[in-house]
Amino acid sequence: MDLFETITARCSVRAFLGEPLPAGGLDRILEAINRAPSAGDLQAYEVYLVQDAGLKEALVHAAYEQTFIEQAPAVLVFCANPARAKRYGERGASLYCVQDATIAAAYAQLAATALGLATVWVGAFDEAKAVAALRLPEGRRPLVILPVGKPAESPAPTPRRNLDELIHRL
Ligand SMILES: Cc1cc2nc3c(=O)[nH]c(=O)nc-3n(C[C@H](O)[C@H](O)[C@H](O)COP(=O)(O)O)c2cc1C
Repeated sequence: MDLFETITARCSVRAFLGEPLPAGGLDRILEAINRAPSAGDLQAYEVYLVQDAGLKEALVHAAYEQTFIEQAPAVLVFCANPARAKRYGERGASLYCVQDATIAAAYAQLAATALGLATVWVGAFDEAKAVAALRLPEGRRPLVILPVGKPAESPAPTPRRNLDELIHRL
């Protein structure tokens, strides 16, 4: 699958087979994450890999009972780490670290798709509950919960705006 096919194939999947990820698949996703760009190459984010059933259940509760999270064999939690971006002052602390973490999550989604795996970006969750559930260190801000697994559904593509409406040619 080339990049454009991968982009087209990616969709949010909210039902996962309980099967383990294919050998080496998770490592390839993690390597792809680590190639994401970041402000000043400061890499002001952290990724937590959750495979423990109890921790996944706690993430389900933090995410307002989005139960598909615990179906996935691996759940990646992308966190901003503002301390790593302090060279950039307030902009680093409030923006760059958030952008760094979210770009990395998008890389993970595309890498998983290229491997025939599925993800869904979960942004609706109680940050404090997620911090407590994972016992994250001080200063980490969880932004994205990303279950990764083999898909148990094939959703239809979701609509997009026409390019004429989206792109503003100046
Ligand atoms: C910032 C953000 C937050 C999201 N939060 C959730 C969520 O909490 N639960 C969920 O099921 N999907 C969530 N999604 C997935 C979107 O619903 C989905 O990307 C959108 O409907 C487009 O569908 P597609 O991903 O299949 O193209 C989120 C996506 C983004 C980018």
